[in-house]
Amino acid sequence: MLDTTRQNQTQVIGIGSGKGGVGKTTFAVNLATVLNTQGKRVLIFDADLGLANIHIAFKNRVEGTMVDVLEGRKTLKEIVIETENGIHIVSGGNGLDEVLSINKQSATQIIQSFSELDGEYDYLIVDVSAGIDDNVMTFMAGCDHKIVLGTEEPSSIADAYALIKMLTKKEHITGLIYVPNKVRNSRNGQKLFESMNQIVKKFLGESLQFIGSINFSSDYNQAWSRGVPAVSMGQSAIIERDYEELIESLNTIEVELAPNRVSFFQ
Ligand SMILES: Nc1ncnc2c1ncn2[C@@H]1O[C@H](COP(=O)(O)OP(=O)(O)O)[C@@H](O)[C@H]1O
Ligand SMILES: [Mg+2]
Repeated sequence: MLDTTRQNQTQVIGIGSGKGGVGKTTFAVNLATVLNTQGKRVLIFDADLGLANIHIAFKNRVEGTMVDVLEGRKTLKEIVIETENGIHIVSGGNGLDEVLSINKQSATQIIQSFSELDGEYDYLIVDVSAGIDDNVMTFMAGCDHKIVLGTEEPSSIADAYALIKMLTKKEHITGLIYVPNKVRNSRNGQKLFESMNQIVKKFLGESLQFIGSINFSSDYNQAWSRGVPAVSMGQSAIIERDYEELIESLNTIEVELAPNRVSFFQ
């Protein structure tokens, strides 16, 4: 289903992976930073409920989390944090009590709570947690663009496929984007994409969309330890180019909305 009526609204980009540690948060932070450099107003929602760590990437302190919003202590606007470079972030919470208080109902409620920020951002980037549980499905289905991030590791390939399968079969989502991360060069990225796309075509009867890949760079680890995005470290021309190309391709892709969704900003 194509939808062209939402062009002037916030573009919502969901990032999932199946497996943890493949680079979702790093990707969200660097994508946001490049968009921000291009003059876009960007909000990142760290939807890794209970284990949110996006504030660490920016060396910010969290004043409140989505759990405070769900439990009526704070409004969404009150928990938005502005980072040094102007990117806004919302934390999903990072305590055990917070993990326990989240259920499927909440994922829907969380998505709906974003209407409070309607019109304030050009992009909302949703950093979805690892795994393939109901919250992951609900968050991904609620986004305009649905990106599955993966690496060449066999366990990442298996878990990315599991997520793609669930999104395709259970949520009937089409137009999924698969982005290879930590690849040696763009040729390897293209190869990884093609092999995943072949499997998905063969077993699920769907095609994945290609918007590029992200090269491996030790700058990312350094950036994490310094509390800055890798693209803003100054010597990361390759990193910047990866994201610029990716954003350019993303802009040409038609949004395909999930049939049974509760969308952000709807
Ligand atoms: N393109 C990349 N090249 C090298 N290391 C990367 C890359 N992307 C992410 N990483 C590293 O991978 C680790 C996990 O990243 P993170 O973003 O926390 O993953 P996730 O959010 O998926 O759990 C971090 O140490 C990060 O620096
Ligand atoms: Mg993460």
